Amino acid sequence: MQPQVQAFFDPATWTVSYVVYDRPGGHAAVIDSVLDFDPKSGRTRTVSADRLIAFVREQGLTVQWILETHAHADHLSAAPYIRRELGGRIAIGAAITKVQDVFKRVFHLEPQFRTDGAQFDHLWQDEETFTIGELQARALSVPGHTPACMAYQVGDAVFVGDTLFMPDVGTARCDFPGGDAHALYRSVRKLLSLPPHTRLYMCHDYPPPGRAPAWESTVAEQRAHNIHIHDGVSEEAFVEMRTKRDATLEMPTLILPSVQVNIRAGELPPPEANGVSYLKIPVNAL
Ligand SMILES: [Fe+2]
Repeated sequence: MQPQVQAFFDPATWTVSYVVYDRPGGHAAVIDSVLDFDPKSGRTRTVSADRLIAFVREQGLTVQWILETHAHADHLSAAPYIRRELGGRIAIGAAITKVQDVFKRVFHLEPQFRTDGAQFDHLWQDEETFTIGELQARALSVPGHTPACMAYQVGDAVFVGDTLFMPDVGTARCDFPGGDAHALYRSVRKLLSLPPHTRLYMCHDYPPPGRAPAWESTVAEQRAHNIHIHDGVSEEAFVEMRTKRDATLEMPTLILPSVQVNIRAGELPPPEANGVSYLKIPVNAL
């Protein structure tokens, strides 16, 4: 059985969230939801998440899974809000513990902050299988952008997270803590060894001038046309390109707030005595 896929593009962070489901009235997974965050005022909003929730309700879907492809550095996850509104279990790759370890130190988090992934309802191992209603699904470890990146294969569709972008944009950066361009090359080749007609759904699009945002491609298209990693590009050539290019990229605007929230499975830090949650900015530490 092939899944139905509904995409939601967030122009503020160039993120694509998905609802993947078996049939109207059936079961669904939500992938990479977005909690809107205004860094100027420190305000969160749920406009993006509410759009997705409205679709799930219109279609009469039961949410089983709220999947994260990784601890995003460019947007806050709306996973806890989605779980409160719709149910479902929040899941991410098991290597999130490494990411939690690194950022617990970077942000000097409270001693009680756990680095065993306990904030999530489930941690995926590589190749672990699961179901979404009548759909067969599989979690695939695809490290490189971060050590904990996962892709989710559902029928003939794969949600690739931050590995590949659209063919004219290329691949994800590998210069965050724990990133590894060699690992990303191998992860992408693993995805591109799937059958040529496999549908690939991107986590982001950064369209070049003149092209509208897009997020769906195929293994065959990526192998033929991906500007960074089409067939014939060697691991050495890819790593050299990726490393040079990463050195020119600025940090994402929301990296500091995003990471602090996303390693808590999307929860804000514990409120202080006045009832307010605060996010930290490490000065001259990164
Ligand atoms: Fe990312």
